[in-house]
Amino acid sequence: MNQDTLNLTQHSANDINTHAMSQSVTKSDILVQLEQAFVQHFGYTPLQVCHAPGRVNLIGDHTDYNGGFVLPAAINFGTWVAGHTRNDRIINVVALDCAGERVSFSLDDICFDEVSPWSNYVRGSLIALAKALPDFGGADLVVKGNVPRGAGLSSSASFEVVILKTMAALYDLPLSGVQAALMGQQAENEFVGCNCGIMDQMISAMGKQHNAMLLDCRSLEIQYARMPEDLAIIIVNSNVKRGLVDSEYNTRRGQCEQAAAFLGKASLRDVTLAELNAAKAELEPVLYRRAHHVISESIRTCDMLAALNRHDMAEISTLMAQSHRSLKNDFEVTTSQLDILVSLLADKLGEHGGARMTGGGFGGCVVALTERSHVDKVLATLAEDYHAATGLKADIYLCHAVDGAFVAV
Ligand code: GLA
Repeated sequence: MNQDTLNLTQHSANDINTHAMSQSVTKSDILVQLEQAFVQHFGYTPLQVCHAPGRVNLIGDHTDYNGGFVLPAAINFGTWVAGHTRNDRIINVVALDCAGERVSFSLDDICFDEVSPWSNYVRGSLIALAKALPDFGGADLVVKGNVPRGAGLSSSASFEVVILKTMAALYDLPLSGVQAALMGQQAENEFVGCNCGIMDQMISAMGKQHNAMLLDCRSLEIQYARMPEDLAIIIVNSNVKRGLVDSEYNTRRGQCEQAAAFLGKASLRDVTLAELNAAKAELEPVLYRRAHHVISESIRTCDMLAALNRHDMAEISTLMAQSHRSLKNDFEVTTSQLDILVSLLADKLGEHGGARMTGGGFGGCVVALTERSHVDKVLATLAEDYHAATGLKADIYLCHAVDGAFVAV
């Protein structure tokens, strides 16, 4: 098995004096645990181990389900599945991160699981796979991940994508990354009950090492953008438990659709800022603000690609600040703790980088981009300052961009 190092570095408030605490979790540790658990549960060795990464979105939030642009990167936290085919139609899955819970079901009778909700990602993904590529049978699977759960870093998308990748590899199915992403989204939308867009599954499947990925969420066209060598991606988990995520998310999505319908367009992708502003007086204020965020955020996302390519830190800083403000004031998906983290980071970064909330909001993480030479200075007192302001502990991760499940060789 591959012995590559994950290079996972975690900075923790528990260790604020030596904030550069380095916890080297190796990929080989995870692979060993998976293989041992597989042998223990099934009595034989797995055929293969597949991996799909989580993601951080650098800019472009709540634009994907409006047909707009997003700019995420796949990160060095992900989900791994050890698997082997079976001669019947039974799927056995063991989740090492859920106390080794084991779930079994037949491919001929896939029902929603109230008892072990995590298994619904597997069930939903296999239903979607069977609709398009039904030529597969049962499997024994063991899963383990290290994406912080509930932090807005797409642990569920990486789970869906790795399950699809595993079945495609075990049964030699001609499954593309884009197809897998669409199936993962279908699992969420139609089986799990979350009306998410396509960003998370697309980046988990199609991300590229050292690159951010500009995705046109309408055409699914991809443009990779090489991250400058000396640019660090810092993720800070506010450790605010994400509340009301699904209901508020679905409400926002409905408001965007209402705004587009009012303006006579299929989606907000088709509306310009000038058109929106011309209709401002007639549009309900809340719908105006939601649409204003979505349209301006898509523009910022394309501008960010250009700023990254130019290595223009001042512009990156401005765009990220504008994005956060828009998510706070127009889209209203931040929390006071996210706002505090972003403002602490912005103060420390100045023009040497930017910070914003990332993902769906209502808690979770913020992302900061800065030159590597600034990381130590920026992180020196961040966890202490955040704790003093909120009473909460921040987890800090230094990340880098990795390959997606369908891009890795
Ligand atoms: C969640 C969804 C994505 C996207 C983001 C917000 O992560 O799963 O599809 O809408 O929120 O950008």
